[in-house]
Amino acid sequence: MGVFLALLPLLPMPTTATLKLPAKELSLPVIVGSEGEQAVDISKLRADSGFITYDDGFGNTGSCQSDITFIDGDVGILRYRGYPIEQLAEHSNFVETAYLVINGELPNTTARRRFGDLLRDHAPVHADMEHLFQGFPMGSHPMAILSALLNSLGCYYPHLATNNPSEDLANFEEASAIAISKVRTIAAMSYRKSHGLPYIYPKSTLPYCENFLHMMFSRPGEDYTPTPEVVAALNLFLLLHADHEQNCSTSTVRMVASSGANMFASTAAGVCALWGPLHGGANMAVLGMLESIHAEGDDGTKFVEAAKSGKGGHRLMGFGHRVYKNYDPRAKIIKASFDKALASLGIKDDPLLNIARRLEDAALKDEYFLARKLYPNVDFYSGLIMRALGIPQNMFTVMFAIGRMPGWIAHWREVAANPKNKIYRPRQIYVGKTKRDYLAIEKRA
Ligand SMILES: CC(C)(COP(=O)(O)OP(=O)(O)OC[C@H]1O[C@@H](n2cnc3c(N)ncnc32)[C@H](O)[C@@H]1OP(=O)(O)O)[C@@H](O)C(=O)NCCC(=O)NCCS
Repeated sequence: MGVFLALLPLLPMPTTATLKLPAKELSLPVIVGSEGEQAVDISKLRADSGFITYDDGFGNTGSCQSDITFIDGDVGILRYRGYPIEQLAEHSNFVETAYLVINGELPNTTARRRFGDLLRDHAPVHADMEHLFQGFPMGSHPMAILSALLNSLGCYYPHLATNNPSEDLANFEEASAIAISKVRTIAAMSYRKSHGLPYIYPKSTLPYCENFLHMMFSRPGEDYTPTPEVVAALNLFLLLHADHEQNCSTSTVRMVASSGANMFASTAAGVCALWGPLHGGANMAVLGMLESIHAEGDDGTKFVEAAKSGKGGHRLMGFGHRVYKNYDPRAKIIKASFDKALASLGIKDDPLLNIARRLEDAALKDEYFLARKLYPNVDFYSGLIMRALGIPQNMFTVMFAIGRMPGWIAHWREVAANPKNKIYRPRQIYVGKTKRDYLAIEKRA
């Protein structure tokens, strides 16, 4: 059965594509994005032909049109709202970038001050919410606590979580500030809870990152004061994670939002999607890999050979990316800032860092990795940065969630504000049993 798809050579960009099906030929519109990406619009395909498309893992499927983030993985480009990630990393900080991602423009002085005030006002959690933390057993995973408590925000702010997109959008500024601010407080409280430590309340005088570190590491009567380099490293980590277009958790947020669900419910679902080791858990896997190489007394050479052979399911964690077939631009930035942060923390000779550097050097010269376009991704160094900041491993994915919150919020808004929004509902190719009749229990084998 022949199915043939050809782009008609219309200049400068094709406006239609021809799809030859066994009994029919269809002319399909071609959509071109602002950076020249082309897509064949198949939204009427089933109605016109009875066919659907099949794309396991969605690697070739554009699920929406979005104006938030642009990635060109072949050359290693990442831009938020048009701004190159390198420029934001150099000149901006997490809060300003969060505003940009959410609202589409960098804030002027008044807007920046107002956003900062809202974040400060919303830093504490409702007193009743503290009781929710008590209900979790000691040792609970902070990601489970985070998703549950984010969702519960809809109970504390029912006027912001009506599940009527126009009403929820009318209060978007307040809801988004609550989500950005409280995700940090809940994250720090879930860490304190999981370690049996007393909660430390936010301080209204502290900026976003300093306040988070205070809630994590201060003790009653003894404030933790980070160095500027540590604050800069945290800002950078969060900023680099602020959005990454249609990844698994963001697509989940959009999926939930498409049903009309409120922002808190949608972003809580994003936390659950992020929890998996193939997504937000990869930086923990990198650290686990470095620790086991160190424990075995390997300098990395044996591990690289094992990863190349694929034996025992070994992979060089933190290498390769579904989208980037070049150096992940975020990895380059993190790596460049790494030494400053380590020096300010007095870390000179970290064996895991030395192994990571040797692994990277070896892989970047090796034909196996070059031929497959496997370069370090952001997770290769981000776990080491967090470890240096004193963040425990079970909080790594939570840190990613704090950073990703602006992106999730921006994507929630894009869906909620889309007048043509349709509930997301993919089709499938059914490969199960064909019709059969019910058998009484005594007749079953
Ligand atoms: C991220 C990842 C899932 C992307 O996968 P992908 O684009 O679907 O690529 P594939 O899994 O199809 O791999 C393509 C080839 O490269 C190899 N490969 C991919 N990543 C590899 C790695 N980290 N180490 C060794 N080999 C790797 C595969 O074995 C395959 O080889 P083959 O063609 O000889 O069979 C994959 O690179 C990976 O597992 N990386 C390690 C985990 C990680 O760092 N995840 C965080 C991503 S942000």
